[in-house]
Amino acid sequence: MITNYINVKFLEQGSFITCFTAVNSESEKVVLIVSDNTQELQTRFDLAKKLDDIEGVQKLYGLQKLEIQDSALEQLEAEYPGIFSKDSHVLTGRYYATQYNDHVRQLSLPQKLDFFRELLVLVKQVHDKGVYHMDLKPSNIMVQDGKPVLIDFGQSVTEAEVDSVLNTSAYAPKHDVYSCNVIPEKFDIYCLGNMLHEIYTGQPLGYPMTPSSRQAQQIKQTFGLFAQNIIGQMTQRIQDLRISLESCLKHPLFVYKQETSLEKSQQILSEYVFCLYGDQQIEGNKQVINTSSSYSSSSFDVPQTLNQTTTNTTNSLRDLFGNVTLSRINSCILSVQEESQQ
Ligand SMILES: Nc1ncnc2c1ncn2[C@@H]1O[C@H](COP(=O)(O)OP(=O)(O)OP(=O)(O)O)[C@@H](O)[C@H]1O
Ligand SMILES: [Mg+2]
Repeated sequence: MITNYINVKFLEQGSFITCFTAVNSESEKVVLIVSDNTQELQTRFDLAKKLDDIEGVQKLYGLQKLEIQDSALEQLEAEYPGIFSKDSHVLTGRYYATQYNDHVRQLSLPQKLDFFRELLVLVKQVHDKGVYHMDLKPSNIMVQDGKPVLIDFGQSVTEAEVDSVLNTSAYAPKHDVYSCNVIPEKFDIYCLGNMLHEIYTGQPLGYPMTPSSRQAQQIKQTFGLFAQNIIGQMTQRIQDLRISLESCLKHPLFVYKQETSLEKSQQILSEYVFCLYGDQQIEGNKQVINTSSSYSSSSFDVPQTLNQTTTNTTNSLRDLFGNVTLSRINSCILSVQEESQQ
């Protein structure tokens, strides 16, 4: 199999696989993903086929057993110890020259946010096909023609709820991993929240962001309320309360792009929260929150700005956001609440 290619060069050692680049008979530069773990390669191949019509998903061409003569295998074993065996399989696919980090590094902040929004749209397309990546992080994202491409579906799942996940990446929600019910959609959102934090600060957050934390205050001071609010919602500790991808895409950070005055930003954010929660959540000027979590079981005053929302604005925002009803509190309310008290 590998003998059908010329110019085979070692590219990268992954956790479960080894990547090589090579040139195929059509003179195309391709990637060869080699592993003894056939199941891992089969998962990657099956999911790539399922997602074939999504532009931003890695194109894989074929999965085959490594078929080479004993003497050639011995040579490979000597050259790359511990990688090749008689059970090795090879997955071939399109080679992408640019890595996420190298691409993002050279963009301005607004360009980074545009690119990140494209990534959110891409992940949403994948979710809409019932596939959850489960290992979103910079090294699993390549770039083609300035657009993100998802690679490495080795840990992906197709169920809406799973018993366990093995992922110790710095971007993954550790508290989800330790719980016995994992909601894959929310798992991906948390990883993306960490990547958004990295866009702003240069590193993933690594734990849920609460509005009163030092990190949250720093983000707010340097980059504004929108940034603080969305990272807080995406890295919300409780999976059920974590924002959905659909609501992320409608967040003021992506809709309005730039913050104006603090007061105006606060108002926009309050209206967004209002649209997320719907009328039924607001009784008088009190919002009663009951959750099983000790973090957020109390009664909050609804921010002044929420009460000032005019019917017209609310209706137009409702058009924009649709009838999104998140039935419980998330850090969004907490964040707006804090702002209005200051
Ligand atoms: N199609 C490709 N084009 C270019 N580079 C690639 C391609 N596929 C993989 N790579 C490179 O090889 C690295 C490892 O591949 P991959 O992520 O599939 O392996 P992995 O074992 O799952 O790694 P990890 O556990 O670190 O995520 C990628 O981070 C990327 O740099
Ligand atoms: Mg990877």
